[in-house]
Amino acid sequence: MAMSLTMETLVSLCKRRGFIFQSSEIYGGIASCWDYGPLGAELKQNIKRAWWRDHVQLRPDMVGLDASILMHPTVWKASGHVDHFTDPMVDCRECRRRFRADKLDETPWTHYCSAKKGNKFAVPPGEPCAHCGTRRSLCPECGKGELTPPRQFNLMFRTFMGAVEEEATLVYLRPETAQGIFVNFDNVLQAMRRKLPFGIAQIGKAFRNEITPGNFIFRTHEFEQMEIEYFVNPNDTVNGKSADEYWHERWIEGSLAWFQRYGMRAERLRLREHDKEELAHYAKRTADIEYRFPFGWSELMGIANRTDFDLRQHAQWSGKALTYFDEERKEHVVPYVIEPSAGVDRALLAFLVDAYREEEVRGERRVLLKLHPELAPVKVAVLPLLKKREDIVRTAQGIRAELARRWAVSYDDTAAIGRLYRRQDEVGTPFCVTVDVRTVGDAERAERGDGRVTIRDRDSMQQVRVPIPELRSVLQELLDGGEWGTVTARFGAGASPEAG
Ligand code: GAP
Repeated sequence: MAMSLTMETLVSLCKRRGFIFQSSEIYGGIASCWDYGPLGAELKQNIKRAWWRDHVQLRPDMVGLDASILMHPTVWKASGHVDHFTDPMVDCRECRRRFRADKLDETPWTHYCSAKKGNKFAVPPGEPCAHCGTRRSLCPECGKGELTPPRQFNLMFRTFMGAVEEEATLVYLRPETAQGIFVNFDNVLQAMRRKLPFGIAQIGKAFRNEITPGNFIFRTHEFEQMEIEYFVNPNDTVNGKSADEYWHERWIEGSLAWFQRYGMRAERLRLREHDKEELAHYAKRTADIEYRFPFGWSELMGIANRTDFDLRQHAQWSGKALTYFDEERKEHVVPYVIEPSAGVDRALLAFLVDAYREEEVRGERRVLLKLHPELAPVKVAVLPLLKKREDIVRTAQGIRAELARRWAVSYDDTAAIGRLYRRQDEVGTPFCVTVDVRTVGDAERAERGDGRVTIRDRDSMQQVRVPIPELRSVLQELLDGGEWGTVTARFGAGASPEAG
């Protein structure tokens, strides 16, 4: 069914099905803060686990780190965040709302049009009024107030460390996880006996006092990052390119491929190079991977060449040498750094958007989250067909307990089977296992069960009956990407389209 997903539909599904709730909702909520519910927490864990396995466990050139959120305040002087991590901000003198000066033309604006008797219109971003031709000069939100001249606003959250208020030290909630890696560069180098090139990965919370947060979990004050600092020898060349440029390309390709491996469609991803004016103070080149969200193309992750800026800054401010000894050239070098930096929450949002489908099945609407099995919050749902049949329930409970040792499994007997399937489709559960009368037989009629259960595939809605002792290995095969057709060919006799 052709449809375009709106953010309202997605936010509503996320709340209804336990993915994401507004933070502190019973107190009226707190702006741009969100809580991950039971299924959201699983999905988030799965994204982080897949990222960590692919980028740390599977790579001989990578190690992991989990640095503290609160760091010595000088870290942020050295990194440039105290002086440069700012956005230009303007305030409306009428409604007091606050905006990023550089983003004003990217939001729709409210206009009371004199050519239309002062009627109120919402004008699309960056466009003049279609009636009078006026361009926005007042507040985009209330359409009445003058805006103040831009002022620089530092995005770091500040807090105080220490029991005695007067003696407390000003500290910052980290605005990126990256600096925890730079200040530990030498520790990791020594402890792990690394040779260039190598990378350090970290997943953790970051905090930014964003002036205009919004679009659900896209831009929030508190979020998680999955960051890598990949250190290379700037004097090396690889395939005719300097090592930093070569590895920058490799990480761009690898990062695009990673999102696609877990299901994102290629046509919804694109690369955008930062032009000179946009480049961060530390970057030689930055490319963003953008995703086509329902609100338009927006940044999913950035891959920057940070050169030797950070290591040099921390060496200068700390007085400690942060160099690598190049055995071949017998010289100390300050490594260059390639930084693939992704937001966990943004990735989660993009995976949800990409997975969302609406279909018509026998005249009824079916909502489906076509999540990659590895990301799906629940891998298998066990559904007893008759909850009053003690033997069916006992068998189903036994299967649930067995599968739960390996996967996130849910058990549901609170509706008719067709309804239960739809529920699981809507949260992206790849497989349902149904226990019915054929499985256990009917003692009153002296009928023996066949000891098989039905596996139902989320995407095709096809079913296959497999013997209980083989269920776990068949599910493992399917969750590992095994072909549905191979399984049905093996147990073919029971394969059938969805009956529920
Ligand atoms: N260390 C580099 C760095 O932090 P960034 O482009 O500012 O670079 C990297 O952030 C990623 O972190 C972004 O691509 C985005 O996915 C995520 N991110 C940044 N600010 C965010 C926010 N306010 N809310 C949610 N995610 C955010």
